[in-house]
Amino acid sequence: MMRIAVLVSGNGSNLQALIDAQIGHQFSGKIIGVLSNKVDAYALQRAKGANIATAVISHKDFPNREGFDEAMHQQLLAWQVDLVILAGFMRILTPNFVSKWQGKMLNIHPSLLPFYKGINTHQRVLNTGDRLHGCTVHFVTAELDAGQSIAQSIIQVGLNDTTERLAQRVHELEHFIYPQVVQWLCNGQLSWENGQAYFNQKPLKQPIQFAQFWN
Ligand code: GAR
Repeated sequence: MMRIAVLVSGNGSNLQALIDAQIGHQFSGKIIGVLSNKVDAYALQRAKGANIATAVISHKDFPNREGFDEAMHQQLLAWQVDLVILAGFMRILTPNFVSKWQGKMLNIHPSLLPFYKGINTHQRVLNTGDRLHGCTVHFVTAELDAGQSIAQSIIQVGLNDTTERLAQRVHELEHFIYPQVVQWLCNGQLSWENGQAYFNQKPLKQPIQFAQFWN
C-alpha cells in the first residue's frame, strides 16, 4: 500500500478528487497527510473532513527556499510517505528537494505542456487565441513544469470561454485524470528510471491522451 502525501496551497478540488477516489476504492494507496504552505487553504478543511492528518509549513517562516523545503522534507519523512502529489501547490521547489523525491513526485498543471508553463495559463491561452487547451500530469524535475509528461486531456476553446470558464472546464478534466495517474503510480503500471517514465514496463514516448471532450 503506497503512502501518499498531497501538497496544496489553495482550494484543493484536486485533493478532493483524490480523496473521493480513495473512498471509492479506486486506489491501491492511502493519503497519509496533506501539507499546505498556507494556513487558510480550504484544502486543509477537506483533509480534516476526511480524517486525514494535516500540516502547515509557511514559506514565510523561512529565510530561503532551502529551509522551507527541508522542513517539508522532514514532515514527509515523519509521515513515511512513498509518493508526493502536488495538487495546486504554488511554490517553486529547490533542485535538492526535487532530487530526493525524483520519480515519486507528480504535479498537475493547467495547460498542455510544454506550452504555458508557470501561472495564468487560462488567460494566456485566451490572449493567444489558441483553439486547444487542457491539463497535463507530469513527473516533477528540477526545472519548473518541465518533467516528463505522463497524461494529458484536451478541450477545444469556445468563443464564449472566459478565464473563469476555462478554469472550470480544465478542473473537470483534472479531477478525472489525476486520480487515474496516481493509481498507475501506486500499482506500478507507471514508473520512473534514470530520467525516463515507463508505462507497462515500456518507455513512455508521448503523454497518454485521455478521451477528448469537445464541449
Ligand atoms: C489546478 O488547476 C492545478 O492544475 C493548478 O492549480 C489549480 C489548483 O486547483 N496548479 C498549478 O497551477 C501548478 N503550477 P485546486 O486547488 O482546486 O486543486
